[in-house]
Amino acid sequence: MSRILMTGAAGGVASMLRPHLAGHFDEVVLSDIVPVTGMAAHERFVEAPLADPGACRAACRGMDGIVHLGGFAHEGPWETIHEANIVGCYNIFEAARLEGVPRVVFASSNHAIGFYRRTERIGSDRRVRPDTRYGVSKAFGEALGSYYADKFGLRVLSIRIGNVAERPLDERRLSIWIHPEDLAQLIRIGIEHPDLHNEVVFGASDNDRSWWDNHIAYALGYAPAHRSEDHLEHAMEEQGRLAADTIGQRFQGGGFCSDEFAGDLDRL
Ligand SMILES: NC(=O)c1ccc[n+]([C@@H]2O[C@H](COP(=O)([O-])OP(=O)(O)OC[C@H]3O[C@@H](n4cnc5c(N)ncnc54)[C@H](O)[C@@H]3O)[C@@H](O)[C@H]2O)c1
Repeated sequence: MSRILMTGAAGGVASMLRPHLAGHFDEVVLSDIVPVTGMAAHERFVEAPLADPGACRAACRGMDGIVHLGGFAHEGPWETIHEANIVGCYNIFEAARLEGVPRVVFASSNHAIGFYRRTERIGSDRRVRPDTRYGVSKAFGEALGSYYADKFGLRVLSIRIGNVAERPLDERRLSIWIHPEDLAQLIRIGIEHPDLHNEVVFGASDNDRSWWDNHIAYALGYAPAHRSEDHLEHAMEEQGRLAADTIGQRFQGGGFCSDEFAGDLDRL
């Protein structure tokens, strides 16, 4: 019997993912602070605020793996990011250790490396370059994954997710997009791969315009089925509706880089 916990299960990514994970696990426990609707027979809901260590432990009990999607999913005030993404992420890894859950898949983000320029091609082994407090919290989550893998033997996959959607939403997303079916494949690698220790990969489909060298994911068996270039016309049409962003357009993190940006671009 295989049982996984999915945090942040009422959110947008979880809603897109769940149908693609159906049939792969006997039971999927869905946790959030708001109820999840439209559950399938193999799914059940538990309320678990991430800032509550006891609730996190109870949600993790008896699980074979955790898919940690829960948290504040964009830039916000430090107090909010701190509670949901720093304390919350710690509580989930610590609950996994205390409850003997062997695997954690962590939803990291492209915003952990947002200040790399679009002219650069980077591997997921490059150091973090967060573009926001949100991005800093994702770098923290990756560091937690490394610590819990090395010190306690958890098997951890951090996925620096680009943007999850049925199709890429603009020109930037042509480079970073991931179809939910491809993300489900990466998550299954994180839950099932026999030789996983701790890896960081990019959550991206097979995108011709990618800024990322995702060889670590491919070495783990990842074979994305979707290509952003198949949606070129739609993405460029949507791009035409967006205002110019002279700072954001230089960097992989886009508008998250221009938001609150101060001073001179030359330092970068
Ligand atoms: N959407 C994307 O394309 C994308 C890209 C990169 C990374 N990610 C990451 O993937 C994950 C899911 O993203 P999403 O777009 O579905 O976000 P979302 O905001 O739609 O969902 C996040 C869920 O987490 C829950 N949550 C927030 N704070 C919580 C708390 N303190 N305790 C318990 N639950 C809490 C929310 O209620 C929500 O249902 C996030 O960690 C996000 O940072 C998403």
